[in-house]
Amino acid sequence: MATLTVKLIAPVAEEEAAIPNNKITVVCVREVGMACVIIILGQSLADELALVDVLEDKLKGEMMDLQHGSLFLQTPKIVADKDYSVTANSKIVVVTAGVCQQERESCLNLVQRNVNVFKFIISQIVKYSPDCIIIVVSNPVNILTFVTQKLNGLPKHRVNRSGCNLDSARFCYLMNEKLGIHPSSCHGWILGEHGDSNVAVWSGVNVADISLRELNSEMRTENNNENWKEVHKMVGEST
Ligand SMILES: NC(=O)c1ccc[n+]([C@@H]2O[C@H](COP(=O)([O-])OP(=O)(O)OC[C@H]3O[C@@H](n4cnc5c(N)ncnc54)[C@H](O)[C@@H]3O)[C@@H](O)[C@H]2O)c1
Repeated sequence: MATLTVKLIAPVAEEEAAIPNNKITVVCVREVGMACVIIILGQSLADELALVDVLEDKLKGEMMDLQHGSLFLQTPKIVADKDYSVTANSKIVVVTAGVCQQERESCLNLVQRNVNVFKFIISQIVKYSPDCIIIVVSNPVNILTFVTQKLNGLPKHRVNRSGCNLDSARFCYLMNEKLGIHPSSCHGWILGEHGDSNVAVWSGVNVADISLRELNSEMRTENNNENWKEVHKMVGEST
């Protein structure tokens, strides 16, 4: 007896294995990875989403939650596995994996352990999606982006990083708190290395193209009675 599927769908042509057009992979499904996933799904950026992690139970749980929410999403296929073959044909791969810093462990040692993790991850990504664009989010993000590019001799334009985007977004939000103007109208860039040594570009801080430094030339100094320097400090502390 024919199945319901056969009764419902009459094929008019031979079915070919579908290759996704806009597949995105997120490596690691902890806080940062899942935040990326929610944005990708919420904005319907992918026609297929793949997740990878070494934590099999968590990976399966997150995949099931997302699949069960499919009714509210426009991404038809969500897959997950610890094997990187699941990432094949990705256009973009977002890497948020990393090892945690141990007690009394130096930053340099942490970097070395993360480089070892990246050696495996990047080789697997490139094996299954040789033409993909990689976006590194794991910290220290600037160093790991450089390492990613060097590991497989990838061209610079194919390896990107989250950089100071989060820092700049935080800065704009804190501007909004100070001025009572929505962050989308507050503009300010944080440049340099993501972390302690980043730089606020005070000359570019503006609201709807009106330069705040022209309105208050002392805004970046200690003398400033509105304490704008504190805003930049708060960005660094959040990181
Ligand atoms: N660039 C930024 O703006 C920014 C902002 C926030 C966090 N981060 C960084 O993002 C990273 C992720 O943070 P988090 O809090 O989500 O996670 P986390 O640091 O708590 O955990 C990292 C995860 O990586 C996974 N992992 C380790 N080895 C792996 C491997 N070989 N393959 C796949 N997965 C592996 C582990 O399962 C672990 O759960 C951290 O490095 C963090 O510092 C960057």
